[in-house]
Amino acid sequence: LKTAMGQSHAKIIFFGEHSVVYGQPAICLPVSKIKTSVTITAVNTGQTIQSRYFTGKLSAMPDSQTGIQLLIRTILTELKQEATPFAMQIESAIPAERGMGSSAATAIAIIRAFFHFFEEPLSHSELLRLADVSEQYIHGNPSGLDAATTSSRFPIWFVRGRRPQTIPIKQNAFLVIADTGILGQTGLAVQYVKNRLAQDPQAELAIEHLGQNAKQARICLANGDANTLGHLMNDTQKNLAMLGVSHPLIDQYIKLALDSGALGAKLTGGGMGGCLIVLVNNQTHAQKIATVLQQNGAVQTWTEPLRSLKHKG
Ligand code: MEV
Repeated sequence: LKTAMGQSHAKIIFFGEHSVVYGQPAICLPVSKIKTSVTITAVNTGQTIQSRYFTGKLSAMPDSQTGIQLLIRTILTELKQEATPFAMQIESAIPAERGMGSSAATAIAIIRAFFHFFEEPLSHSELLRLADVSEQYIHGNPSGLDAATTSSRFPIWFVRGRRPQTIPIKQNAFLVIADTGILGQTGLAVQYVKNRLAQDPQAELAIEHLGQNAKQARICLANGDANTLGHLMNDTQKNLAMLGVSHPLIDQYIKLALDSGALGAKLTGGGMGGCLIVLVNNQTHAQKIATVLQQNGAVQTWTEPLRSLKHKG
């Protein structure tokens, strides 16, 4: 039986969520241990999908899955395989709607799996262009950052409309990622910031400030300055909260983390729920903070040494 697989992984935004939509730079980190895999198997008839949301025919996918359905049809049309039967299985360890790029990761893994299955070459720009089909549908005005990071093995510096650059990280600090369990609402949050910008001049300053923080953070990542990095995270969180995209539970967990000696903490991704990230000096401390957050209700935590996120060059 002919099968092919495509993979991708979670992402976190270290600096630059929301401001990236308005042309400011963002720093995004791949989280390679949290994976999405798509397997396509040749079958005699039918085009079927099996995933955590839906099992059945491609043509019968519910409205919530229209983005994915649209993506699959676009790929099949471009590869001139509209009528080819297949069975697709999507498996993902990325929690959905938590700002960890689960929708983009699914798109990336699906595209890779199909191109692999049909033995067609796939360039990186083609991969990102196709991922944008479902991301546009799901988010309305995506910066492209999620697709760029869930398909990259390296930390990236992302400016909307430009080719992502990989960046060096020289840091011994650790990150704790914690899931509040509350669904993040990226589409809503992006719209909220847009409305805010139309009404409040302070919002524009906050966006610029977020971009400045990303620029400074890039320098701190390269020279190992974890303390300043922590301050920049706290300041970023203040500005994101000012824009209205934090959440009371995120605020509560951030306070807990900082009271437990973290260097900095902020929401990650679209916000209004979802995940937060916490910067700490070492692994022991990371474990301690992860435990504190779990004891207070965080549904899942991951710890990640920043130095494991190596630069390509
Ligand atoms: C979502 O992960 C990040 C946002 O900046 C939206 C986007 O970049 O498309 C909130």
